[in-house]
Amino acid sequence: MVIRDAREGDQLAVARLTDLAFAGPDESALIARLRDDGDVLIELVAEDAGEIVGHILFSPLPVERDGATAEAAALAPMAVLPGRQRSGVGSALVKAGLDACRAKGVPAVVVLGHPDYYPRFGFTAEAAATLQAPFSGPAFMALELTPGALEHGGRVRYAKAFGL
Ligand SMILES: CC(C)(COP(=O)(O)OP(=O)(O)OC[C@H]1O[C@@H](n2cnc3c(N)ncnc32)[C@H](O)[C@@H]1OP(=O)(O)O)[C@@H](O)C(=O)NCCC(=O)NCCS
Repeated sequence: MVIRDAREGDQLAVARLTDLAFAGPDESALIARLRDDGDVLIELVAEDAGEIVGHILFSPLPVERDGATAEAAALAPMAVLPGRQRSGVGSALVKAGLDACRAKGVPAVVVLGHPDYYPRFGFTAEAAATLQAPFSGPAFMALELTPGALEHGGRVRYAKAFGL
């Protein structure tokens, strides 16, 4: 299996696996809107024997505080083909995605997701609790890639495609 940047030719396979993983079209529609709006920061796929078996996307997430803006990232959506779940594909995508964020100098990543899944990569609800956001609670988590990046909080602005 390889993790690589998504290409235009992957779009149908990504939509198909996302629809299957989420049992509906809402998340693939979100992916299409993010692409149309130019709000894709990082998009990776997992490919195994020529088949796209997983996908992850990060969009820009400005965090505003005291008139300054930090360019963080939102992890969403991500999905693994149902028949291939629980075999490490998702973990490989998250790790590669976080490496790509680090390489771009992204100071922090925010996710709204399974509270039992993302902490293994270092995400915590505590790190996100400083933020003014449309979400709160255990599913709203963050990971500082630059230590202290979220310490003083700030207001997050999700990409338009999220409709928040
Ligand atoms: C969540 C998802 C991306 C994880 O990908 P994956 O390839 O199955 O994950 P991995 O194989 O790397 O990791 C498996 C671990 O994740 C856990 N896990 C998988 N799905 C989970 C879920 N919905 N809630 C909690 N934990 C979950 C498994 O228990 C397993 O834990 P273990 O290693 O302690 O046994 C995948 O299950 C998926 O596409 N789910 C449907 C869509 C979705 O919910 N996307 C995420 C939105 S935040």
